[in-house]
Amino acid sequence: MRKSLSQIKKMVQAGDIITCLTAYDAAYAYWIGQAGVDMILVGDSLGMVVQGHTTTLRVTVDDMVYHTKMVQRGNDQAWCIADMPFMSDSTLDKGLETAARLMKEGGANMVKLEGGQRILPMVSALSQLGIPVCGHLGLLPQSVEKHGYKVQGRDEASAAVLLADALALQAAGAEMLVLECVPSSLAKKITHKLSIPVIGIGSGSGTSGQVLVLHDILGVTVGKAPKFSKNFLAQSDSIQSALQSYVADVKSGHFPAPCHEVG
Ligand code: KIV
Repeated sequence: MRKSLSQIKKMVQAGDIITCLTAYDAAYAYWIGQAGVDMILVGDSLGMVVQGHTTTLRVTVDDMVYHTKMVQRGNDQAWCIADMPFMSDSTLDKGLETAARLMKEGGANMVKLEGGQRILPMVSALSQLGIPVCGHLGLLPQSVEKHGYKVQGRDEASAAVLLADALALQAAGAEMLVLECVPSSLAKKITHKLSIPVIGIGSGSGTSGQVLVLHDILGVTVGKAPKFSKNFLAQSDSIQSALQSYVADVKSGHFPAPCHEVG
């Protein structure tokens, strides 16, 4: 049976570290679930790792629905989050329509949106409609043309904005938050201030859980994988055991290395 949001929250309260991996099709979704990964993210990173684009910006709502459908056909174990792609939340109406498609057609359990203050009305509207929302702060791949692929929140002022945004997202109804590429001390602080699960990527070990991109942990990323990721297949004899090593290393606190300050 697939994990529920309340199970994920209870695990966090009990001190378990939550594991999440991206998946884009049924077969990998199945094996990720079998390995004991708690959550699957159908990330718009598929624009880069599956479609071969240099950014996530070209991913469409149709693409996200198509991949979410495939993932949910194979996934019988994990909570499934689907990304709302670039500009699909540019107006309230568009955002509601996108989320409805991801849930109704794709079968997603939760939708993820990038941004802070800008998305608060959307988060609040979705939450009131009973749609679980995951926020995404820090490095925002959909804003890469403006801000680049850089660690965010390094100085006091930007760190304060990130903390304020995280609290505002939670107050608006977000049930989870992804923090991408922020200094580990800041990620830890935000995690402690929030009551919702905070899932880190490239943000150190002080968050409630970790997410990585599937292709990076299997060493099949075309070009360079991010420095903070790890090829778990390099030390395993099968994809299945690489997925299990990821789960074991995250749950035991071996990955990411404790006290590793990012950037
Ligand atoms: O699209 C994606 O895979 C993501 C992760 C990098 C968190 O948003």
